[in-house]
Amino acid sequence: MGTDAIDDLLHENRQFTPSDTFKRDALIVGAGIYDDANQDPLGFWAQHAAELAWDREWDTILEYDAPHAKWFVGGTLNASVNCVDRHVDAGHGSQVAYHFEGENGDSRTITYAQLLSDVSRAANALKQLGVTKGDRVAIYMPMIPELPTVMLACARIGAVHSVVFAGFSAKALHDRIVDAGCTLVVTADGAWRRGDVFPLKDNVDDAVADLTQVRHVLTVKRTETAVTMTSPRDVWWHEVVTGQPDTCTAEPMDSEDLLFLLYTSGTTGKPKCIMHTTGGYLTHVATTHRYVFDLKPDTDVYWCAADIGWVTGHSYIVYGPLANRTTSVLYEGAPNFPNEQRIWSLIAKYNVTQLYTAPTAIRAFMKWGDQHPNAHDLSSLRLLGSVGEPINPEAWMWYHTVIGKERCPIVDTWWQTETGGIMITPLPGATTTKPGSATFPFPGVVASIVNDDGADVAIPGGGYLTLDQPWPGMLRGIWGDEQRFIDTYFTRFPGRYFAGDGAKRDADGYFWLLGRVDDVMNVSGHRLSTTEVESALVSHPFVAEAAVIGRKDPTTGQAIAAFVTLRSGIDETEELAQELRQHVATMISPIAKPASLLFTAELPKTRSGKIMRRLLRNIAEDGALGDTTTLADASVVDGIKEKYLHMPAAHEET
Ligand code: WTA
Repeated sequence: MGTDAIDDLLHENRQFTPSDTFKRDALIVGAGIYDDANQDPLGFWAQHAAELAWDREWDTILEYDAPHAKWFVGGTLNASVNCVDRHVDAGHGSQVAYHFEGENGDSRTITYAQLLSDVSRAANALKQLGVTKGDRVAIYMPMIPELPTVMLACARIGAVHSVVFAGFSAKALHDRIVDAGCTLVVTADGAWRRGDVFPLKDNVDDAVADLTQVRHVLTVKRTETAVTMTSPRDVWWHEVVTGQPDTCTAEPMDSEDLLFLLYTSGTTGKPKCIMHTTGGYLTHVATTHRYVFDLKPDTDVYWCAADIGWVTGHSYIVYGPLANRTTSVLYEGAPNFPNEQRIWSLIAKYNVTQLYTAPTAIRAFMKWGDQHPNAHDLSSLRLLGSVGEPINPEAWMWYHTVIGKERCPIVDTWWQTETGGIMITPLPGATTTKPGSATFPFPGVVASIVNDDGADVAIPGGGYLTLDQPWPGMLRGIWGDEQRFIDTYFTRFPGRYFAGDGAKRDADGYFWLLGRVDDVMNVSGHRLSTTEVESALVSHPFVAEAAVIGRKDPTTGQAIAAFVTLRSGIDETEELAQELRQHVATMISPIAKPASLLFTAELPKTRSGKIMRRLLRNIAEDGALGDTTTLADASVVDGIKEKYLHMPAAHEET
């Protein structure tokens, strides 16, 4: 056993066991599922793959020529059939697939039968527009029902979709269309954003202006804004799709045929185009969705409040939920439009049973105040989920008490665009949770924590998170860049997948995610995770959100600079800044006491809501800001920079 690569500082001892009420009806209550999967991981996944509808059964469960995995080799199936047709065939055509809620309050109900004819019509339209098996289709759309429809239509005819988040610029869209060689772009005239229109079609026009590879742009009318239609390239959805026949034979796809491409930018570097295939991915997302969310298709109304432009939406709004015949809420807009009550009023309106959202949203809800959720009946909720960043224990406790009313288990799910589906997570009826811990690997998943030399770190202890065995939803590569695939994930620790995240295990073996290893701080030789110091700050009752970074320091190597957002109504005073710095010293260690602390109304975040610590590091070191194209709101950085430079004693060590 080697030594720790990251110090273990924060100790959280609160524990929550699933209630008897929850356990009574839970799909999984004991540890048996882990034992079964441990004894025969391939058999475990194969058993769940067999619950899908295959045109041809596979010959081999797994062929692994590291780092290349093939799952369910020789099998053929179609993802759209698994998500839609088979439920209709089984007599569930009148069940609601999506309760769609527009930002302006318009709503639509889409049943599985409706979805089947919509997908078939869209698939026929794609064919008419010249799209064939293996072609790449770029999708740049708001969160409206046509978005999952066209993804499934691609899957139905064997085309590969590449969804580009609708908040990205024309330039970002252009680069992704070129990189993946897309021949069709599907978009809308505009997207509603807090009452304004974001000009999607105009952006597409700019993005494809010089691209002969794009034969058509298919546009849904959503905002009724004026757009330029260039013939014969541009066609309207209502003209091309609506009149199509409502049946379309699905293409049997090889288990290893590409299902989709999805770019992940992370916080640094050129975006990586992650490849996901069909059989393994669908098995992974359906199985995890069912067990992690304890999904009961006949009675639940599930809401994943992510955007389909991110992997969370692909796996847990579209493919996983539909494969499990889920009734979902699909919401187009912002959680605080027209006001901070929107999300809670929707939960009450649709009697939502499971809510899956991100720590960034949970911390925003905390900041806005308890009066908003308290004004609504949230008693339909029975389970809460979190994904995207480490959840600070105090944010977890707030979610548990104010939203879950101490009744709902919380599933803190760790995974990545690259993993395709959830990897480390509680099972809500079986796992005793601890606030801030993602607990244990999902059955059939093998994870470790290693030190700089790649040796296993003893329990308790911290280091780098690796995944040691292939799993069905794993990425099959980076489109067009095999070397980067190997270098990024499989070179640092030979034979293992390196996730790029720090993690620790406590004395009970629970996994705690510690943030990206690029952000780990080194203060006087101590390797400190950003997450633990931030969580210490957030544990103060006045703090809603915090980010810390290590800036260069001549004596200590790095010094900790903290950026803190207070809860509504709390004043930013110098005394409070001192108190918070001291609070960290008391909570975890004097070594972790921030050298400086700045109050800020906002933190710089990626468009998917992750704190961009690199930018804060640049501000603190007053360097160039680097690439900010993935930043949600560039003005936030200027504001913080201005304030940081005028902060009293900004660079003073006390
Ligand atoms: C972070 C999102 C801690 C992590 C599904 C990971 C988390 C990156 C958690 C992937 C969690 C995601 N606890 N950290 N529960 N979930 N992360 O590709 O750093 O957008 O590597 O996929 O988010 O982000 P991505």
